[in-house]
Amino acid sequence: MALPAFDFVLFGGGGDLAMRKLIPALYYRHRDSPDAQGWRVIAIGREALNDEQYRQRAEQHCRQYLPAADFSEAAWQRFVPCLEYQRLDGTVPDDYAALAQRLQDPQRVRVFYLATAPSLFTAICGNLGAAGLVTPNARVVLEKPLGRDRASAQRINEDVGRVFAEEQIFRIDHYLGKETVQNLIALRFGNLLFEPLWNRAWVRDVQITIAETVGVEGRGEFYDNAGALRDMVQNHLLQLLCIVAMEPPANIEADTMRDEKLKVLRSLRPLSTDDVATRVVRGQYRAGAIAGKPVPGYLEEPGIPAQSRTETFVAIRAELDNWRWSGVPFFLRTGKRMSERLAEIVVNFRAVPHPILPNVAGSAAANRLVISLQPNEGLRLDLMAKVPGESMQIQPIPLDVAFAETYHMRPWDAYERLIMDVIRGRLTLFMRRDELDAAWAWVEPIMQAWEKQPLPPKSYPAGTWGPTASSALLARDGLAWHEES
Ligand code: BG6
Repeated sequence: MALPAFDFVLFGGGGDLAMRKLIPALYYRHRDSPDAQGWRVIAIGREALNDEQYRQRAEQHCRQYLPAADFSEAAWQRFVPCLEYQRLDGTVPDDYAALAQRLQDPQRVRVFYLATAPSLFTAICGNLGAAGLVTPNARVVLEKPLGRDRASAQRINEDVGRVFAEEQIFRIDHYLGKETVQNLIALRFGNLLFEPLWNRAWVRDVQITIAETVGVEGRGEFYDNAGALRDMVQNHLLQLLCIVAMEPPANIEADTMRDEKLKVLRSLRPLSTDDVATRVVRGQYRAGAIAGKPVPGYLEEPGIPAQSRTETFVAIRAELDNWRWSGVPFFLRTGKRMSERLAEIVVNFRAVPHPILPNVAGSAAANRLVISLQPNEGLRLDLMAKVPGESMQIQPIPLDVAFAETYHMRPWDAYERLIMDVIRGRLTLFMRRDELDAAWAWVEPIMQAWEKQPLPPKSYPAGTWGPTASSALLARDGLAWHEES
């Protein structure tokens, strides 16, 4: 279906996210859509730039961030006329007249993408409303972090909700736009094989990891105010958990899917202060080495206060109080400056009830499904097979699918998919207000327990898998993280 004509108004148009992800995503979609017509991208910023200067800047960044083979001069020349720039201070109502001048046609889809600090969301939405720019065809996209805690998120939602109807609000979590995450939905609900086993009777534990090798990357001040719990757990990790654990929805309509995700969030067992001490590991990296190269510790990074207690690593043993998952631990883990860049979901099945064949990997070795999001997208199912030769010993062998090899095409970046969904008005992969609230409600007691906690985060050397307490968290259940087992 052809994309409708649209005006994409990008607040924070000169910022890091716009340059690194959003403009490249639009460029790719334009390049790969031979019938692209009626595209307008109006970048908004406070700097005094004209269209030409902005276009040059965008080109420089695209050349820098895209693989050389993906940047085509001809495709850029076709795309660049879509880019415009409007100087505007989001907090100044009078500035919106100039934007209104550019947005003449109310029939066109109008996307207001707020790639700004959340402290500006209220002002921008209020000013858009007051300037009469919120047409029935308008949508607003809110980037994370949506608030610092439950109360501030509720305030933002209320303020935005005064101007935009819930169906016009797209709360983005770019992890949901990753191809493998959607493939997990396809795997679970497009196959008969997994669903009968997808429950407490057959699954021993689930591990969800998002490990990064990067540090705070020049975002020291932002990061120090957020920390890994707000930056990664409250959104990305909990959204992945929802997709793994949800009941089969009746269809993939936005509200049907989101109702099921909400049920998962609401069945997360609340963590008491004592639980936080025993089931949550909070870490902070110190100096170490990544791929043999020395890197400074978190406290030595620019913009980080010397006494900072902000966590750069979190591991949590979560449980879901519902019929399907009762008693199955879900281990969530994320960290900066870890040993590898890796994002994966591991479903460990139980061992066979009565092993009659000796397993060279140990008697507890069992089937395992690894859904890999990064660095390579793919699926791996470990099956037990006979060791070649005379004996009847068995061992795990992988059944591997690397999507890049299967499909021979560049996978879409998450933002390409999500921006197209916004333009088409598809809400399925965006968070509803009640989901966001339920996610904050679960995370907040952890933040509160840490605030009361006299001990600093546990230190780990950069380039490792986090504090030793993270391995101990699983060892208490007789388990180990995927890379240790
Ligand atoms: C962002 C976080 O939401 O996700 C960053 O703010 C993090 O701190 C990033 O680095 C990771 O995303 P990806 O897609 O590179 O894994």
